[in-house]
Amino acid sequence: MKKLNGFEKLKTSVFISGKGSNFYNLIKFSLKKNSPIRIKLLISNNSNAEGLKYAKKFHIKKKIYNYKNRLSTEKKIISELEKNKIKLICLAGYMKVLSKNFIKSFKGNILNIHPSLLPKYKGLNTHERAIKNKDKISGCTVHFVNSKIDSGKIIMQKKVRIFKKDTPKSLAKRILKQEHNLYPKAIRKLFSNL
Ligand code: GRF
Repeated sequence: MKKLNGFEKLKTSVFISGKGSNFYNLIKFSLKKNSPIRIKLLISNNSNAEGLKYAKKFHIKKKIYNYKNRLSTEKKIISELEKNKIKLICLAGYMKVLSKNFIKSFKGNILNIHPSLLPKYKGLNTHERAIKNKDKISGCTVHFVNSKIDSGKIIMQKKVRIFKKDTPKSLAKRILKQEHNLYPKAIRKLFSNL
């Protein structure tokens, strides 16, 4: 990863598809004086995503793509990222799989947050699966994105206890709270020279 000097913040793009609570949390983090990132661009595949409102509120440029064709959509996204000199992508509930070429073209500087202790429970419905398997612990993971879903190198994880009375909803809520701590921490870990 690129080393930063004291004055340069990493131009970052966040990709979302839904509520955007992690996006909001990353915006707040980026606004801290000593934060290593500056969020310049929001990308979404969903024009109804609730989280789009945060782009408006914080005057962050947003671009929405309909993904009729992945190849041509990704080309458009890449050109937008280049135009804005984006150096880091943070996926935060982005429901589209990025192609190998896209990931390669971005030289691995793509992070994701996932609501389980990877490598356990890649993909969707992580909380349902953890509860069904009677796991006692779940959690969340920030990892690099590679061409296999939820399989890139792990940067940081946080464990969360599962209680007997937990439902997928109650567990999701507790884990999401930890996600909001973990994502900024992981970013700081990567760019700790600031
Ligand atoms: C989070 O649980 C995240 O781990 C997963 O999708 C969810 C997004 O939530 N990848 P939000 O849109 O940030 O509120």
